[in-house]
Amino acid sequence: MSLSAADKRWLVQDFGPQVRFEEPMSRHTYMRVGGPAEALVTPLDRKGLEHLVRGCAVRGLPWMVVGGGSNLLVRDGGICGVVIKLNRCLRGIRKTGSGEECRLTAQAGVKLQSLCRFSARNGMKGMNFAVGIPGTVGGAIIMNAGTRLGCMADVIESIGCLLPDGQMTRLDRKELFFDYRLMRWPEGLSVGETESPIVMDGRFRLMPGNPKDLADEAEAIRKTRSESQPLDRPNAGCFFKNPVKGRTAGELIDQAGLKGRGIGGALVSNRHANFIVNRGKASAGDILALMALIQRSVFDLFQIDLEPEVKIVGHETD
Ligand code: EPU
Repeated sequence: MSLSAADKRWLVQDFGPQVRFEEPMSRHTYMRVGGPAEALVTPLDRKGLEHLVRGCAVRGLPWMVVGGGSNLLVRDGGICGVVIKLNRCLRGIRKTGSGEECRLTAQAGVKLQSLCRFSARNGMKGMNFAVGIPGTVGGAIIMNAGTRLGCMADVIESIGCLLPDGQMTRLDRKELFFDYRLMRWPEGLSVGETESPIVMDGRFRLMPGNPKDLADEAEAIRKTRSESQPLDRPNAGCFFKNPVKGRTAGELIDQAGLKGRGIGGALVSNRHANFIVNRGKASAGDILALMALIQRSVFDLFQIDLEPEVKIVGHETD
């Protein structure tokens, strides 16, 4: 526990119904597992968010941001401190280029799928790689979300961010380091694993395209995805990163004969081996145990270490 009675009073006073104490994170993640957040705050607007971050800094409270919860696994012991949800604030999306320029700005809480649709409708080409990827723009930037067709790093021009001390700044693409499913802040900006700057918005640079062609392409991509991925059951997308070369994580897990293997409520999908699905009442412990089993089996057979792509946070149960 890290919130004192005085901290809780402050949260209630300044954020009222936007705060929930001991809120199960299973309600806020696609996996539908995870223990409680000590306090979960959903600020209504940007001002509220800034006030919250500054207040946490002054009081020395740990905090972390969750986006859509689509790539997040929270352990069963839950999360100490303040969890900040951005889905109510930061929902704007607009064209920002002049004339023919294909530029747009999307705030962090916008769903990535809304950004895809908005760009296609406005005849801007380049976002379709992200069709079907769940989650929010902020999360997608931090994870450098992508598929074989492209990734966020290909289209991002700059990001607006709120620093842990409450100051705003804008960082150019050149100042950021992107790699496979990874973005790194410039040195000195990040305080810790969780109290990093908050992505407030992304500015994107796209190319001219035909809205009808873009919509058709998006539909085809969506169809392919739904044929090869178990989108009908709670999951966090691909669970492991693909190794840098050679076989994909899905192929390795499949060849290890693990499709359909389950522990408790967690199951290796029969449709795509790199998906762990919650087939009912899984706990985070079930998923982590299955993750360890997969890693062990793949290592024993192929001497390859699979690294989770899913972000794992929170603490174990006592
Ligand atoms: N494969 C198997 N068995 C399986 C699954 C896949 O043999 O159970 C084989 C497929 O037949 C194919 C190869 O593995 O030859 C690659 O499979 P797939 O085309 O599904 O791509 P992937 O590498 O597994 C990546 C991304 C996905 C993204 C797809 C499509 C990673 C870790 N995964 O998957 O992203 O949707 O390409 O572009 O980069 C995600 O990030 O959450 C995610 C699902």
